[in-house]
Amino acid sequence: MDTVSRTKVIDLLKREDYGSRVNVKGWVRTRRGSKQVSFIALNDGSTINNVQVVVDLAKFEDELLKDITTGACLSVDGILTESVGSGQKVEVQAEKIEILGKCDNTYPLQKKGHSMEFLREVAHLRPRTNTFGAIFRIRHNMAMAIHTFFHEHGFFYFHTPLITASDCEGAGQMFQVTTLDLKNVKRNEDGSVDYSDDFFGKPASLTVSGQLEGELAATALGAIYTFGPTFRAENSNTPRHLAEFWMIEPEVAFYDINDDMDLAEEFIKYCVRWALEKCADDVKFLNDMFDKSLIERLEGVLKEKFVRLKYTDGVKILEDAVKAGHKFEFPVFWGMDLASEHERFLVEDHFKCPVIMTDYPKEIKAFYMKQNEDGKTVRAMDVLFPKIGEIIGGSEREADYDKLKQRIEELHIPMKDMWWYLDTRKFGTCPHSGFGLGFERLLLFVTGMSNIRDVIPFPRTPKNAEF
Ligand code: 4AD
Ligand code: MG
Repeated sequence: MDTVSRTKVIDLLKREDYGSRVNVKGWVRTRRGSKQVSFIALNDGSTINNVQVVVDLAKFEDELLKDITTGACLSVDGILTESVGSGQKVEVQAEKIEILGKCDNTYPLQKKGHSMEFLREVAHLRPRTNTFGAIFRIRHNMAMAIHTFFHEHGFFYFHTPLITASDCEGAGQMFQVTTLDLKNVKRNEDGSVDYSDDFFGKPASLTVSGQLEGELAATALGAIYTFGPTFRAENSNTPRHLAEFWMIEPEVAFYDINDDMDLAEEFIKYCVRWALEKCADDVKFLNDMFDKSLIERLEGVLKEKFVRLKYTDGVKILEDAVKAGHKFEFPVFWGMDLASEHERFLVEDHFKCPVIMTDYPKEIKAFYMKQNEDGKTVRAMDVLFPKIGEIIGGSEREADYDKLKQRIEELHIPMKDMWWYLDTRKFGTCPHSGFGLGFERLLLFVTGMSNIRDVIPFPRTPKNAEF
């Protein structure tokens, strides 16, 4: 038989030229059948759907047939035929089968229905399951949606450094980067570490956010976004926190907080719409298998205009709920940082719609946010989503040199590290705003997964850096 070039399963399933010779390659998901015939569900990752390969056992050697096991990798040449029973329009009648990779019965993904916890332990193999195939195709698609959105809106993709000497969020959650020999650390007279021999000649860390450098770019290029990994050594073992996660940070000159909120809402709706339209098969699979209200929730977000609510008014609603008998784990009072139970109460129980909360107390927000006239609050905005809580955090930035400098001093942020940032306010300062979207939080929302460890290929969490 002449060799024909490979067709991906996604394309094969759309073909109607029955009788043609085709080649398909992929991994065996299941094999079933009788003494005469085997039906192999073959998947190559291009789609959630498998192609059915029909094998007339009389035509093949037993030696070969015994190696067609779950997980084995095959190349199949055969005839494309109209299918009656496979649930697809087409199937392949095998004429030649080559085993590219055998797979013995120690393969951990033998049967279906493994727990998500178990699959995390085999994160190197879990992309071969239906669920993780769907999740990682959606992850790719969301990245494409994000770049497309910003490109179409005239934003420039700007690359900010991953190694930095400044702590953007000022939360002291940075992973240190060093080439010093930790067994033999040189010290200054006062006992502090002597960094002069370290790679950068001073302490350096992995970035928690590209925002500060993003602001430099926005005050030159007008509108930029970053999209890259960020690192936080926060010891929070929750279903919503990773030590290494991806963040998208647009930053726009001449935007005030209202423009910033409009952008956030339009952007996130664009991504959700993209998932519904361009990942329909995968989203439907996750909806049917995991979360029957996923599609409804995604569509729900598109319908409504997000509620805009001041922090002070939000706290009042929560206090009223407490008075009415609602029990929260954490206390509610003006000045508190909202826990995700509070955020979710507002979104899921009270408004039943995404909420953009603004004007938080300055004590619980970062130094760079624009200060309100009241002296107590800052022009921050967080987008709160059903099932997730905070999905976006952003603000209008303090554009006034003196106010910003004063806040930096109040918070004892080392000024010598901040000179370049303050220069933006010294040389042609302008109002500007931006926000950060946690990529994995967006993925939690569009996939309906309940643990952030399941929407990134290789999660990094406290005490876990396997693979
Ligand atoms: O609210 P955050 O800390 O804001 C910033 O980093 C700003 N510099 C953004 C900006 O204004 N340019 O983080 C932004 C978002 C959060 O809303 C959340 O979605 C996500 O990043 N995030 C995390 N996602 C996963 N794991 C973590 N540990 C996260 N910390 C924040
Ligand atoms: Mg935040």
